[in-house]
Amino acid sequence: MSTPPPTQELSRLPLPPGSEGYPLLGETLSFLRAPREFVRERQLRHGNVFRTSLFGSPTVYMVGSEGARWVFAGENKYLNVRWSAGTQAVLPTRSLMGLTGEAHQSRRRLLVPHFTPTSVREAVPRIQAIALRHLARWAERPGPLTVHSAMGSLVFEVALSLILSDAQVDTERASHLFKTWTKGLFTLVRWDVPFTTHGRSLAAKRELLSLLDSLVAERTQRAEQPQDILGSLLAVRDEEGRPLSREAVLDETLLQLLAGHDTTMNALVNMVYLLAQHPEVRDRCREEQRGASLEEPLTLESLRALPYLHQFIQEALRLHPPAGSVSRVTTQDVEFGGYRIPQGWSVMLGISGTQRMEPWTEPERFDPDRMSAERAEQRRQPHCHIPFGGGARVCIGQHFALAEIGIILSLLLRGYRFELVPGQDLEFTSIPFPHPRSGVVVEFSRR
Ligand code: HEM
Repeated sequence: MSTPPPTQELSRLPLPPGSEGYPLLGETLSFLRAPREFVRERQLRHGNVFRTSLFGSPTVYMVGSEGARWVFAGENKYLNVRWSAGTQAVLPTRSLMGLTGEAHQSRRRLLVPHFTPTSVREAVPRIQAIALRHLARWAERPGPLTVHSAMGSLVFEVALSLILSDAQVDTERASHLFKTWTKGLFTLVRWDVPFTTHGRSLAAKRELLSLLDSLVAERTQRAEQPQDILGSLLAVRDEEGRPLSREAVLDETLLQLLAGHDTTMNALVNMVYLLAQHPEVRDRCREEQRGASLEEPLTLESLRALPYLHQFIQEALRLHPPAGSVSRVTTQDVEFGGYRIPQGWSVMLGISGTQRMEPWTEPERFDPDRMSAERAEQRRQPHCHIPFGGGARVCIGQHFALAEIGIILSLLLRGYRFELVPGQDLEFTSIPFPHPRSGVVVEFSRR
């Protein structure tokens, strides 16, 4: 799409092909049951842009680099963020995820200093120390280890240290509340009662907010704020010298915890699974560590000197992107690919679908070598490798995430053995984040 067609012409364009499914429910159940198959089947029938109805809203779903370019370029022009009503109730909306336009950009400017290479560099020893402690604990436990829950606690502690640095938090309780809260992000039943996932999620969110509120109360008494995300949120002033509202501080803190946690945790779970399934890849990653001991300090430079590990991470993020799609709403009638998309419709861009089609050859095959410098021609094509999204809302934490993943995998490879326990269900589930259904159960020990 270059210049928008005149309104009259636009109204003559057809809607994308597809169907709305059942009244109210639309095609939500089929989508939730197997999102990847849902998209693949319609892509084969209709092409890379199709119409459906999801989470109570008429929706245009698109895959492919053209669609990605259009979605990323459309922010604040013809698209805006939008969450389904159920997700909206559970998300902290007075945060980056709910803000639009200038308010969104100015909040990003406030947060960006925490995600620069300098900040990431400073965080490396802290992440290594947290990871070493958790991995040692995993190896001491008797019996098999479920990577999903163990990795969840490790990544949660890393996220807390970035956001709240020195705060005294009951990590176990906070982690439990966090898990209960995030289970309610994508549910159809929206009754705020104790026996629904939605109700339990809202209750956990309230308790988390109250826990954060007492930390914020303690922090506001201090003359100087630590150099962490909460510190920046408390220190910022607008042109009239006003601080952010307490609600905005709490919502943003909670969002940072959410955005940095489940994505990174699921990425790591899938990477451990891929390493365990592909011993030849694991051995190449291990050789690159050149016999370094567990305690040898990692740095951004030493991580950069691991090209094959980097290839492996990029390929794992291509095949199993933790965020399977991004979601927007049209702010006007608009054209894409010769179709009309009416104002107020949802637009979903499939990250997973986009990364499993051309220009990638044999896109379903796991092949870290496709990310090598020698074979860079596919990787360099715009918008075909988009695990961190793009445009004005591109992931703010991507460099942090890549460093965290690099550190944790390096330590696992240097010091630990992990073998898949036979007989587990390794079929992928996709909602809310893709990972093998079993959570990846391994025999875990020191090497
Ligand atoms: C492998 C790990 C990660 C993946 C795959 C990932 C993926 C993404 C994607 C696809 C988006 C764009 C969402 C959209 O366009 O609607 C996003 C946004 C975001 N991510 Fe990440 N993310 C990861 C880790 C992190 C970490 C570690 C943090 C923070 C510590 C973080 C913070 C955020 C925030 C705050 C946003 C919202 C940005 C905005 O709306 O301006 N993410 N992430």
